[in-house]
Amino acid sequence: SSRYPRYTREEVGRHRSPQDRVWVTHGTDVFDVTDFVELHPGGAEKLLLAAGGALEPFWALYAVHNQPHVLELLREFKVGELSPDEAPPDPSAAQDPFAGDPPRHPGLRISSRKPFNAETPAELLTERFLTPNELFFTRNHLPVPAVDPGSYRLRVEGPEGRVLSLSLSELRSRFPKHEVTATLQCAGNRRSEMSRVRPVKGLAWDIGAIGTARWGGARLRDVLLHAGFGEERDGEWHVCFEGLDADPGGAPYGASIPYGRAVSAGADVLLAYEMNGEELPRDHGFPVRVVVPGVVGARSVKWLGRVAVSAAESPSHWQQNDYKGFSPCVDWDSVDYSSAPAIQELPVQSAITHPRPGAAVPPGELTVKGYAWSGGGRDVVRVDVSLDGGRTWSVASLAGERAAPGRAWAWRLWELRAPVPAGAQLEIVCKAVDRSYNVQPDTVGPIWNLRGVLSNAWHRVPVTVTR
Ligand code: HEM
Ligand code: MTE
Repeated sequence: SSRYPRYTREEVGRHRSPQDRVWVTHGTDVFDVTDFVELHPGGAEKLLLAAGGALEPFWALYAVHNQPHVLELLREFKVGELSPDEAPPDPSAAQDPFAGDPPRHPGLRISSRKPFNAETPAELLTERFLTPNELFFTRNHLPVPAVDPGSYRLRVEGPEGRVLSLSLSELRSRFPKHEVTATLQCAGNRRSEMSRVRPVKGLAWDIGAIGTARWGGARLRDVLLHAGFGEERDGEWHVCFEGLDADPGGAPYGASIPYGRAVSAGADVLLAYEMNGEELPRDHGFPVRVVVPGVVGARSVKWLGRVAVSAAESPSHWQQNDYKGFSPCVDWDSVDYSSAPAIQELPVQSAITHPRPGAAVPPGELTVKGYAWSGGGRDVVRVDVSLDGGRTWSVASLAGERAAPGRAWAWRLWELRAPVPAGAQLEIVCKAVDRSYNVQPDTVGPIWNLRGVLSNAWHRVPVTVTR
């Protein structure tokens, strides 16, 4: 018999709010997580959906909880056990909300299955300038919605309550098709290097949560002007996007960008229905997604259902309480999400895709390869590579076309060939410089942040040269 008090499910069910305390069950254990609600990395609202009942059906949706450290954390809050006559919920009884997800390429490196999150393996990342659709990284927060292209309507909320409802064929025929080659990068790309300094919360991305595609679609600008908005708007305005993917409480994925970027012809923001000349794949937002070049991937809302102009940024969890940067001194007990701006343009980034860390390479000529990119359309003007941990440097050669200044939305692939002596231990390092002479920090420690975003320190790859 246990030292814990016994409760019925009915008693647990009376604790559904911070005022009445927030209780949950897992297996046959009962937890009072009131003090954790505001600290929950997935947001207080999400946690509260499970208040008064079992966690399992919710955690079936968010497999991020299938990690020992999550159960350990939960254990601290144990206050009781379910009465023996209360059977644990049958996990197989919960219908799998991910059953309708599309099939995926076996080459993707999966970091979570439900929701599906996977990156392009470094080995394939810079094989081509355009990342093949099947290998393009996928970052889903929720199940992939099943959208019927025939009945799909994009709701665009115009000025003075006028609403535009666009079918897919109207979007294709009423607006000129515009094509943009743009790199999308997740804010969490290279997070795993940051977690080696100190643990952070989030998916353990390596260097492959980035990819480049040729996107085709209508300009957001054209759609907004058609809906009746003007080139200019006095004051602060934001264009808010909602996806058709929603959490168990019905809240859709959402994000916003400033109005000025949305209507700017030079910013090339798209409502894309094509990716690399094919219709958008389901994982990447079929039938229509936003593509915001030069901006963190989180704002490029997939499965776009609704566009609205508002004086405030999107109220979505992902705009307000995630995808923000903080000082290394801020931790989960002190973080105030309202104090930091939402990430939009990303900082300069580069990484080595070949060789891989720990590889053994033959003596003779070594080819080092990688990618470099910067946010806001700032082109990469140079990539420096060191083979000795940053003591001496060479300049890599950049492949691909130079883009118009201020509209360099796509990455540059780069390469350096250098002789390497038998038996040497190398620490290969790369760092990029963008048009504004922004550089990458040399180490990750001083840019550490609790959510592990914006990880762009010099990429370091130790390798051994064989004899
Ligand atoms: C993330 C704990 C309930 C949704 C996390 C993480 C922890 C955690 C520790 C960070 C994991 C990591 O990234 O390593 C808990 C505990 C809960 C709870 C102790 C209950 C007492 C819920 C519920 C939902 C939920 C009920 C949904 C309805 C999420 C989401 C994330 C998250 C969406 C963030 C995933 C991401 O986008 O990175 N939770 N969670 N959690 N949790 Fe929970
Ligand atoms: N849009 C919706 N509707 N739902 C999502 O989960 N994830 C965002 C963004 N748009 C997301 C979304 C994030 S965080 C990123 S990095 C990009 O989509 C990833 O796009 P991709 O999966 O096509 O690579």
